[in-house]
Amino acid sequence: MNRLIVVSNRVRLPQTSGAPGGLSVGVLAALRQRGGTWVGWSGTLADEPSSSPHISEDGGIRYVTVDLPRAEFEGYYSGFCNGSLWPLCHYFPGRFRYDPAEYEAYNAINRRFASVVAHKGNASDQVWVHDYQLIPMARYLRAEGIKGPLGFFLHIPFPHVEVLRVLPVYAELVRDLAQYDLVGFQTEQDLMAFRSAVRDVCGEEAVAVKSYVTVDGRKVGVGVFPIGIDVESVAAQAAAAQADDQVRRLVAGVLGRRLLLGVDRLDYSKGLVERFTAYRHFLESSPEHLGRITYIQIAPLGRMNVAAYSEIRDALEQAAGQTNGQYADTDWTPIRYLNKDFPHHVLLGFLRCADVCAVTPVRDGMNLVAKEFVAAQDPENPGVLVLSNMAGAARELTDALLVNPYDEHAVAAALREALELPLADRRACHAKMLAALKRNTIRHWHESFLASLRSGRHLDGGSR
Ligand code: G6P
Repeated sequence: MNRLIVVSNRVRLPQTSGAPGGLSVGVLAALRQRGGTWVGWSGTLADEPSSSPHISEDGGIRYVTVDLPRAEFEGYYSGFCNGSLWPLCHYFPGRFRYDPAEYEAYNAINRRFASVVAHKGNASDQVWVHDYQLIPMARYLRAEGIKGPLGFFLHIPFPHVEVLRVLPVYAELVRDLAQYDLVGFQTEQDLMAFRSAVRDVCGEEAVAVKSYVTVDGRKVGVGVFPIGIDVESVAAQAAAAQADDQVRRLVAGVLGRRLLLGVDRLDYSKGLVERFTAYRHFLESSPEHLGRITYIQIAPLGRMNVAAYSEIRDALEQAAGQTNGQYADTDWTPIRYLNKDFPHHVLLGFLRCADVCAVTPVRDGMNLVAKEFVAAQDPENPGVLVLSNMAGAARELTDALLVNPYDEHAVAAALREALELPLADRRACHAKMLAALKRNTIRHWHESFLASLRSGRHLDGGSR
């Protein structure tokens, strides 16, 4: 079997605190099982970074990380990744901006990562590249002489070509994706959107077969690999975390009220402003719940150098302040909004204690908080998930209370329904969702992607 090298912008080094994102959880699961190397950014910026990477080893995984040049990083990360690609992939053309110099920095950083892989790996290694920060890497890996199978997985949504083509270099990106051997997406809708882009760039013939696309004479396998979770481990950690001091303090602080919980990285794609408004509508229209519910929203900060992120922070502070100003009482704060990160097991403990979890992104690749909430529940007395139909997770968790996150009155009504759902209904919905999670675990995700990459199964065809 070829050795596995995984590449992603961020690498979760051992002993890192704070909750890991879905990408890190997935990559770690694959590397723990298979062994291999994880290549990416060290988290350090330098004026003149040395070209030699930092190397460490832990639990059968080799970590190879590089410092990045400060001058290029800004254009790469705040610029092209999070100012151009992120808004388009999440269907926010209004927040999109483009600067050719930033696109150049994006390519320069990708070239840098590719050269680390080429120097630290063998030509036959199986390389699995993750997420929108690293789309052009395969082109640079090929130029470095890497011959082994190259896979790419997109953790975020892929936009339909009618949105993607706002980006002046969109055709180049589509051709760059076609340098891989297998490109994986979270949902069928993302794959369809990718095919719309390939058709636009290369014509109808390029998408004549379901399991691959043909770009400039190359066949590229395409498939849907929804990322899952380790259901047993999440359930066990959530149950154990009830004894954790921070979890006990959270429970004590709620004073016996019902708990509505949200856990999201602070991002405009997470629909937090809409959620805060929906909660306000809920309070307005449900006087019987006043003083009987606490909404805790945990939203750790990130990407604060991108203007859109500081704007959303201000908007949320204002919205929470208004609701509390209007409804709070001497012994009741309707919304508690925390820009704070917690260790993963503590978050799982919080999720277990919640009566209702609101996961209402306006667009999301998958959203593992939704899945973790379900796995964290006590099956005998489970909480209720209010889930946006714009999240990839809604394709699997069809027994959640599904909502359109833009319809704030409907979200308010779903919150009320969630709080009033009888135990038998809660149990029945929870059991079905848990079964769905067990059918598609994190192990299934990485094993099926890597098996497909190794065998070239997608390239065998099959008609549309
Ligand atoms: C999303 C992306 C990841 C990214 C994470 C955190 O989950 O899919 O690629 O690492 O957000 O964002 P950050 O910009 O802090 O890396």
